[in-house]
Amino acid sequence: MRAGERPAPVPRGDQVLIQVHAASVNPRDWLLVEDRYVFAVLAGRLPLVLGSDVAGRVIGLGPRAAGFALGDPVLAMQTIRGRFGGFAEQVAISARAVAHKPVGLSFEHAAGIGVAGLTALQALRDDAKLQRGEHVLVVGASGGVGSFAVQLATWMGARVTGVCSGANAELAERLGCRAVLDYTQGDFRESVGDADVVFDTIGRERLASVRPCLRPGGRYVSTVPSARNTLDQLRSLGSSKARSRTVLCRPRSADLRQLAELASEGQIEVLIDSVHTLEDTAAALLRSRTKRARGKIVIRVVPAA
Ligand SMILES: NC(=O)c1ccc[n+]([C@@H]2O[C@H](COP(=O)([O-])OP(=O)(O)OC[C@H]3O[C@@H](n4cnc5c(N)ncnc54)[C@H](OP(=O)(O)O)[C@@H]3O)[C@@H](O)[C@H]2O)c1
Repeated sequence: MRAGERPAPVPRGDQVLIQVHAASVNPRDWLLVEDRYVFAVLAGRLPLVLGSDVAGRVIGLGPRAAGFALGDPVLAMQTIRGRFGGFAEQVAISARAVAHKPVGLSFEHAAGIGVAGLTALQALRDDAKLQRGEHVLVVGASGGVGSFAVQLATWMGARVTGVCSGANAELAERLGCRAVLDYTQGDFRESVGDADVVFDTIGRERLASVRPCLRPGGRYVSTVPSARNTLDQLRSLGSSKARSRTVLCRPRSADLRQLAELASEGQIEVLIDSVHTLEDTAAALLRSRTKRARGKIVIRVVPAA
């Protein structure tokens, strides 16, 4: 991985060209560098500019880009099919994955929403079909996805138990966890037996391993695609006992907008672990690779003069 000059992107079709003010890191960025990203084949040829999540201002519009005007502040998520490109001064992204940024939200906080916020929202709402009053166990409560999940589940009216290390217990409580289980001090699965949903943002579990935590009819949702989770998903189709799902984050403009509004209203907090410069992107990826990030790792991109 290295920093360098690339030709400026040209917005085509429904794409919006964004002058990036800030971006944020996801594990997929360093997994790609290490050639361990499950969907890497979709990225096409190297060189590839990394980075899915950005916030910035609209500086160009493709011929079919609707709903945006030059100068609009926006946040967006670029997919692997779009060949990422967020860790750069400019990126072109389909308008369907771009949303207006509320005035009260900084570019850095807006950039932190993207993949992690969308994954948490879509997992709880669409995959787990979380209902008010239900009990959710969020495994990995302090990470990018987990910190959004705890807050969104609380906002949806659920009771949340978080699993994280003791060092992050206070943080998890602040985010909304009614109880926190320290996975370094024993098997968290022995402490919960009434969860309606287990949301596993770490991917070490599977339906069979968390079944003792779930009520009959409970749902297990993982963020990590694997052959065994796919098999469990197929096996649990139509089962009244418990279901297994793997969330696959979809870049939806309306969801980005909802998350940004919740953040600007103070209903949820975009938790920022650290802020790096664009030149320091490698350090930002290394921080993510430690798997100790508390919330989102942000890259500040100084707009070109
Ligand atoms: N399917 C999708 O569309 C999708 C979307 C986004 C992410 N993902 C995947 O989901 C995973 C999480 O992503 P992320 O952005 O949330 O990662 P992240 O921000 O890097 O997660 C870091 C957090 O993980 C916690 N953690 C590490 N080991 C743990 C364990 N054994 N038990 C509980 N917590 C643990 C750490 O807390 P402690 O320091 O307290 O341990 C830290 O706060 C990644 O594998 C990513 O690739 C998938």
